[in-house]
Amino acid sequence: MPLPKAELHLHVEGTLEPELAFDLAARNGVKLPYADTDELREAYRFEDLQSFLNLYYELMAVLRTERDFEDLADAYLTRAAAQGVRHAEIFFDPQAHLARGLDMGTVVEGLWRALGRSEESHGISTRLILCFLRDESADSALETLEAARPYLDRITGIGLDSAEVGHPPAKFRQVYETAAALGLRRVAHAGEEGPPEYITEALDLLGIERVDHGLRCMEDPELVERLVRERVPLTLCPLSNVRLRTVDTLADHPLPAMLDAGLLCTVNSDDPAYFGGYADDNFRAVRESLGLTEDRLRELARNSFLASFLEDDEERRAR
Ligand code: ADE
Ligand code: ZN
Repeated sequence: MPLPKAELHLHVEGTLEPELAFDLAARNGVKLPYADTDELREAYRFEDLQSFLNLYYELMAVLRTERDFEDLADAYLTRAAAQGVRHAEIFFDPQAHLARGLDMGTVVEGLWRALGRSEESHGISTRLILCFLRDESADSALETLEAARPYLDRITGIGLDSAEVGHPPAKFRQVYETAAALGLRRVAHAGEEGPPEYITEALDLLGIERVDHGLRCMEDPELVERLVRERVPLTLCPLSNVRLRTVDTLADHPLPAMLDAGLLCTVNSDDPAYFGGYADDNFRAVRESLGLTEDRLRELARNSFLASFLEDDEERRAR
């Protein structure tokens, strides 16, 4: 039986399995530049974050209707339930869809059709987190937040993702301030490929409550001390780090050192369709490759609920 856990770093578009991509392509009359699912899987050899993002954005072309987003989210929730996920805080990338001519309602309403019934159908409570693409402009992020206003009853927080290096958090200060005033929770990817300074900047200028990845904090002992002292959770994604070559092999992953340093670490799947594993696959991988004890694994599962945006009473029920 997989440990009950919360998934806090999951891009819903990154759960698009090749089979579903081809089904949706057929349904929507979209031609994919791959002969079949085997040929598509062959393309899943990434050099770095950008080489993955190129394919990730390309495959989004198959997502056209509310039903497509519903089917995508429902397929994820089915897999997540089998992996012990009891609560999922799910990222989505509206700018990538708006740029293709879709509107915000298609994306949010479609996802909500699956998320809204997830507790009954999958035993998983959910939250939705709108991510801004950091390689787009600050104005585009503000326009996206405006477009999301009619749907804010369904959106718990905002995040920041896509190509990190060269796109420091400071660029998004205003949109994070506006979102905070609207009562939205705040997270951001930082320290995945980018330097530790981006983590500090995201904390100081964007007021983030969790760091997505945050791996490179280990290069700055003072930052580690601060993250420990302030109990800032990190949403680590070990299989993602291997596939995107942020670490050489799983055995080199700093997770044990991070736990030993007292950091509030969680283990998540990021883009599981592309990186070879969902939530419990990541737990299993770190147990096998890093020799984490059962106590450590239980600590990681407990941390996932502590670091979630669930209220205390909901958190107790989910565990
Ligand atoms: N978008 C989807 N997955 C991502 C990741 N691992 N880093 C940054 N942006 C992303
Ligand atoms: Zn991510």
